[in-house]
Amino acid sequence: MKEEKCRVVENININEKYYLMKLKTTTIAKDCRPGNFVMVAVSTTFDPLLKRPFGIFKSEPPYIYLYYEVVGKGSELMSRLKENDNLAVLGPLGNSFPVFRSENILLIAGGRGIVPIYFAAENYAAGNTLFLIYGAKSAGDLNLLDRIDSLPLKKTYLYSENGSTGKKGLVTGDVREIIIDNHINITFSCGPDAMFKSLNQELAGLAVENYASLEALMGCGFGICYSCAVKTRLGGYKKVCSDGPVFKLEDIEW
Ligand SMILES: Cc1cc2nc3c(=O)[nH]c(=O)nc-3n(C[C@H](O)[C@H](O)[C@H](O)COP(=O)(O)OP(=O)(O)OC[C@H]3O[C@@H](n4cnc5c(N)ncnc54)[C@H](O)[C@@H]3O)c2cc1C
Ligand code: FES
Repeated sequence: MKEEKCRVVENININEKYYLMKLKTTTIAKDCRPGNFVMVAVSTTFDPLLKRPFGIFKSEPPYIYLYYEVVGKGSELMSRLKENDNLAVLGPLGNSFPVFRSENILLIAGGRGIVPIYFAAENYAAGNTLFLIYGAKSAGDLNLLDRIDSLPLKKTYLYSENGSTGKKGLVTGDVREIIIDNHINITFSCGPDAMFKSLNQELAGLAVENYASLEALMGCGFGICYSCAVKTRLGGYKKVCSDGPVFKLEDIEW
């Protein structure tokens, strides 16, 4: 982990509140793995004071791509950055999805949870058979479908809560059937806590190993401040930034 000054190569508005930023890094791009994240100094002033965490969507050394949603002050400032602007980026941080061979892996993404899932799909396709469930509130939140189309996936299942794209419903709606029909033995997931909670219930009793990449409010990003602590099922807490963000789904108290 180190802090680098990165140059903005592109910062494209995908639709109203979603952006894809391409950054030129020194070493982050070659060192990162699917699941890793970076802490971004969105401003050169002290407002906001804290860096913001963003998962890595794609690495193409020396470039990394961040896909982000504007939800507040920090991401709003980020959305205003232009080509050749510089920003301080700390990373790569956190752990990554484990590597498997000869497995049927189901990737499950809710909304911007597509970020580490896309990175995993690009990197873990060799030797495995990959399936994807991707869902969001509406068509406007279900982006990057052209890029997803070019991934080496055996089958993609799209969902939107309002039925504007794909099947109407939640990403977790048919997950049990999809796992059974496709002989899935591993899942990788990323999305909001409500999705993980439902996923944890749906997957109970199935002989599947489940790895979830979590989000949490973060102060430092490397284990010092405890702002990202999550409760584990066996008691005690884990830090999303330094013990995760990838955990066994069933190890977390949902
Ligand atoms: C490991 C990790 C990876 C992430 N990857 C991505 C990504 O790839 N793309 C992306 O768009 N976002 C990602 N996030 C979330 C992103 O960090 C927050 O949306 C961002 O920090 C918000 O900053 P802000 O200043 O714009 O909003 P703020 O003004 O800080 O907050 C605006 C609202 O968003 C909520 N919020 C802030 N941070 C989080 C969070 N971590 N989880 C849930 N709600 C939050 C706040 O409670 C508040 O309601 C990730 C978070 C983590 C921890
Ligand atoms: S963000 Fe500071 S300990 Fe995790």
